[in-house]
Amino acid sequence: MPSKLDVYLNGEFLPLAEAKVSVLDRGFLFADGVYEVIPAYGGKLFRLQQHLDRLNNSLAAIRMKPVMDDLQWAEVLNRLVEPRAQLDQSVYLQVTRGSGSNRDHQLPTDYTPTTFAMCQTIPTNSLDSIAKGIKAITLDDIRWDWCHIKSVALLGNILLKQQASDQNCTEAILLRDGFATEGSASNLFIVNKQQLITPPKSHNLLPGITRDLVLELAMQAGVSCVEQEISEQQLCDADEIWLTSSTKEIMPVIELNRQAVADGQPGPLWKKISSRYSNFKTQLRNQQHD
Ligand code: PDD
Repeated sequence: MPSKLDVYLNGEFLPLAEAKVSVLDRGFLFADGVYEVIPAYGGKLFRLQQHLDRLNNSLAAIRMKPVMDDLQWAEVLNRLVEPRAQLDQSVYLQVTRGSGSNRDHQLPTDYTPTTFAMCQTIPTNSLDSIAKGIKAITLDDIRWDWCHIKSVALLGNILLKQQASDQNCTEAILLRDGFATEGSASNLFIVNKQQLITPPKSHNLLPGITRDLVLELAMQAGVSCVEQEISEQQLCDADEIWLTSSTKEIMPVIELNRQAVADGQPGPLWKKISSRYSNFKTQLRNQQHD
């Protein structure tokens, strides 16, 4: 069995320090690759099939073939995750178009992908502080038009997040043509008069796996849910604003552009759905290992 520090690179498990990639790798030169982040609770991977489906969609969108089948992925990723771990973990995986003999914009007709995966611990204290509520600002979305692809080209995302951070905020909520689409690293929900609203899937946003689960849990709880565009005005008038992602779960936004959201506390619907989310995690944690 690999030790906790081992990573996976191109068919091998090896210590992180020994995992080396060519400087001609197209991931390094062109950000020509895609990735996934998959949490694991009690060593069980969260919605693995959905993450692998999204990975293969991202690969197809950048004209790459799947690098291995779902069973092979499950075997690799399960070896990286520590079984029955007390702390939440997350697996990062990345596939690039590999390296050629020189730097060339033209897509190679023949290539050997670079496939990398590693496991990290999700710090519990960050989730505890998120649950108290986060601050966000709105910013114009400066990214490209294919945001449904989980591309490793994240310069737009990280520069937007940094602008939020410069203003002492955790996230930037992005606006396109007067509509709020998603966060710089999260999906967006608002609550308006007891109704949960999230923008429909489109090329403007990443089809989040957490987003889908939040919708499922809200529907199970009898909450009225719609997938609908959210105007900037609706966002500013919302009773609750949430941002979701695999590693940050459901973040209640308590301040938007330096104004309190409703009474400036995580809202009642957030409490209800985040408690259902915790139950979902507990059930996964307690599932028997195969
Ligand atoms: N990012 N939108 C963007 C732009 C994201 O980067 C993410 C997550 C999401 C939420 O997707 P999911 O629920 O599947 O995590 C939405 C990951 C966590 C990251 O880049 O680390």
